[in-house]
Amino acid sequence: MIDPEKGFTSDVITDPNRFVGRIDLIRSCMQALNSPNSLIAIYGKRGVGKSSLLRQVQQMALGDYTLATHAGLNHEIPIKPRKYLTVFYTCDSIIESGEALVSRLCNDQDEEDGLLRLVPHDGKEIVEFTRAKEVSAGADLKVVNWGAKGVETSKYARVVEGDTVQTFRNFVSSIVQHQVKGRMKRDGLLILLDEFDVLENKRGLGSLIKSLSSKDIKFGICGIGQDLTDLIEDHASVERLLEQGAIHVKTMPTPEARNILNKAEELFKGELAIENDVKDEIVRVSQGYPYFIQMIGKSCVSKASQLGLQTINMHVYNRVLEDIKGGVAFPTLESSYQRAIGNSEARQMLLHLMAEQPEENTLFHEDVGRIFLKKVRSDAEDFDVDYLDQNLPRLLDKKFGSVIRRIPEGQGIYEFTNPVFRLYVNLRVI
Ligand SMILES: Nc1ncnc2c1ncn2[C@@H]1O[C@H](COP(=O)(O)OP(=O)(O)OP(=O)(O)O)[C@@H](O)[C@H]1O
Ligand SMILES: [Mg+2]
Repeated sequence: MIDPEKGFTSDVITDPNRFVGRIDLIRSCMQALNSPNSLIAIYGKRGVGKSSLLRQVQQMALGDYTLATHAGLNHEIPIKPRKYLTVFYTCDSIIESGEALVSRLCNDQDEEDGLLRLVPHDGKEIVEFTRAKEVSAGADLKVVNWGAKGVETSKYARVVEGDTVQTFRNFVSSIVQHQVKGRMKRDGLLILLDEFDVLENKRGLGSLIKSLSSKDIKFGICGIGQDLTDLIEDHASVERLLEQGAIHVKTMPTPEARNILNKAEELFKGELAIENDVKDEIVRVSQGYPYFIQMIGKSCVSKASQLGLQTINMHVYNRVLEDIKGGVAFPTLESSYQRAIGNSEARQMLLHLMAEQPEENTLFHEDVGRIFLKKVRSDAEDFDVDYLDQNLPRLLDKKFGSVIRRIPEGQGIYEFTNPVFRLYVNLRVI
């Protein structure tokens, strides 16, 4: 058995050696990291590779510029790049305000990514470690022992009862003084917040972040959105901070998408090859979404292993396609599919019609992947879907997974909430 994870992964990519393409974005991230005041805001559709890019920002922040070097940006790396200690936090929808977020940060006990790990405290043992395998990798700090007093925040000095923001400021300034400047001699602390879009109430978050940012503390936020307003409602307040740091992650261009497959072959170190026509097909059906490439890649490796082959050829690929068509390849996507269609053939038909619509430019953005209901309506007549208006609501309904959502800017414009789900529907057979 060949381990599919050797070459493919559906996880966020932390190792710079597995990260493919995105040269322009790496450049922008590098510039934002090296400008003293900039805020970094990474946004784009679901599954395009935002979190992986954010993890690369973290690597560069630690001084590991392997990725930039591999991307051919060597001459653009500053002679003395700004170096940081880092915090990485993934938000969730239970966090209802900026203050709640700040409080979460103050209490996060993650040993390698949490803020609390860096607050100096008697008896706590902190050691240097690296986040990548490379020798050149930059060091960060992690906790190996929280000390006899345990991890209760209240045991830490300078907690201000009832004032979370001030407590946070106190934590951060002691981190900057003792760990960032003192122990590690870095330029600043970088706080990365992933899935920022899920925060329930975004009011005032921009100005809060602005007030907490300084030459010693930089923020990087990341989440699903068409534009910055989806991420920071009051983005006007951070506009100047974002001159260099607004980073829109789009789908991958074809050569880059193909390089994920080339990279995988490289990572398999001769154990496995992928034939060119298969690469063409995988790239075609994935439409620039790296997640889909990784998932199909993984399935192909497993299938090749089952068949005792060391090459992913068309035969292997077609077997994988059959599994996808039959709904047995990707259980999570399949359950979304089943939930959306219920027992209705008409709704299933409508879902497929919508998924098939070519990605078109809209009036509003250069963005792709939206469906124009008008177009579907005329196709639907051809296909005998009479009850379009009755079937559409369920596809929009939260109870059934909201696989499609209405775009606020235009009447009758919809898009798939998860673009990868759209790709899946296209391969699934009715
Ligand atoms: N630059 C890249 N090279 C290779 N694979 C990538 C790259 N970026 C992302 N991927 C792959 O794509 C998938 C999605 O990546 P990631 O989780 O970073 O996306 P995301 O935009 O944060 O997704 P979500 O919107 O669900 O949070 C993962 O399987 C990851 O391995
Ligand atoms: Mg993500």
